[in-house]
Amino acid sequence: MNNYILNLYLERNLEIVEGENCYLFDDKGNKYLDFMSNYGVNILGYKNKEIESVIKDQLYKLFNLHGSFGNKIRDELAKNLLEKCQMVGRVFFLNSGAEAIEAALKFAIYSTNKKEIISMKNSYHGKTLGALSLTFGEKYRKGIEEFLIKVKFVEFGNLADFERNLTKNTGVVVIEPIQGDGGINLPPDNYLKSLSEICRERNIILIVDEIQTGFGRTGKFLASQHENIYSDIICLGKGMANGLPLSAVLVSEKIAIRIPKFFHTSTFGGNLIACRISLKILEILDDNFLEEIKSKGHYLIEKLKKINNDLIVEIRGKGLIIGIEVKEKRTEILKRLQENFILAIPAGENVIRLLPPYIISEKEINHFVEIFQKIINSV
Ligand SMILES: Cc1ncc(COP(=O)(O)O)c(C=O)c1O
Repeated sequence: MNNYILNLYLERNLEIVEGENCYLFDDKGNKYLDFMSNYGVNILGYKNKEIESVIKDQLYKLFNLHGSFGNKIRDELAKNLLEKCQMVGRVFFLNSGAEAIEAALKFAIYSTNKKEIISMKNSYHGKTLGALSLTFGEKYRKGIEEFLIKVKFVEFGNLADFERNLTKNTGVVVIEPIQGDGGINLPPDNYLKSLSEICRERNIILIVDEIQTGFGRTGKFLASQHENIYSDIICLGKGMANGLPLSAVLVSEKIAIRIPKFFHTSTFGGNLIACRISLKILEILDDNFLEEIKSKGHYLIEKLKKINNDLIVEIRGKGLIIGIEVKEKRTEILKRLQENFILAIPAGENVIRLLPPYIISEKEINHFVEIFQKIINSV
C-alpha cells in the first residue's frame, strides 16, 4: 500500500495484479490459491469466460442507466431474484451490502409503527451509520456509539433470549442466517424457523441478511432456505455480480406498496453490466451446481475434521462458508498460509474463514488441507 491511501484494512503486504480461475497472481508472478474470493465476492473465480462474454456484450450497448428509466435487464433480474428467493414482492437495487442494509432498515422502520429494533450479538451488517447500528462489537462502534440508532442485541442462536427481549414495541428484527464476520456461527436447527414464526405471529418485520450467505454460498440459493423460513425483507450483495458492485433488497408486496416515491434512491444502483452478470450467475447456479457446492463443502469440512491437532477448537460451516476456530495463533496461521501461497481471511476472535470460489476443485481442496495441516502442526 502506498502513502496516499487511507488504509483501514488488514495489512496483507501483498500486491495482487491478476486473477485466473481460483488463483490470484502478485506483482512478482507468484500464484496464490484463493480461499477467500475477496470476502465472498468472486464466487465464480476470475476470468470466467461466460461472465466475460456478457460484460463485453453489454459494454458496447449501455453500461449505466438511472433507475428512473425502464430496462428489461433489471426487470428480468428482479423477477428471477424473487423466484429464486421464493418471495412475492419487489426488488430495489443498490451497490454494496451496507447500502442494501440501510435501505432495508429504512423500509422496515417506515412500515412499522413500533419503535424497537432487535439485532444479534456478534452480527455484522456493514459500517455506514444505519448498518453499523445493527452491527455488534465495540471495535467497530467505538467513538461513534452515541450517534447510532438504538438497537437491542440478543444472543444469536438462543431463542429463549430472543423471546425474553421481545416487547409489544418490537417492530424489526435483523439476522444473518449464518454469522460471517462474527466467526462463522451456525444457529441450532430450527432456530431460524421458530424465530421467523414468532416474528410473523407478532407482526414484526424480519430482515434476513443474506449478503454473505446468499447466492449459493451454502449449497442452497439462500442459507435461510435450509429451513424454509418466511422473511419480509431479504438483502443480497457480495457475490451477486462476481466482483462488480451490486446489491439488492427484496421486500414483500405488503411492505413494497407502502414505500412512497423518492423515499430511497441511488444514482448507481442496478448497473446494467452488473445486472447482466447477475442474470448469468443465476443461470449457472442451477440445482446441480448448488448440489456441487454442498458436496464440495462437505468434503472440505470432513477432511478438516480429520486433522488431529489440539490447536483446533472446532470446524464448522455449510457449503463453502467454513470456519476453523483455533485456540490461538490465528494470525500466524493466516500469515503462514500466505507464505505458502494460499489466501484465507479471519472472522471473529479466533476463526480462520474459508470462502473459496464455487469452482474450487477436489485437487485444490486437497492441496489446501495438506498445507493447512503442515502449518497447524508446526506453529
Ligand atoms: C452479512 C453481511 N452484511 C453486510 C455486509 C456489508 O457489505 P459491504 O461491505 O458490501 O458494505 C457484509 C460484508 O462483509 C456482510 O458479510
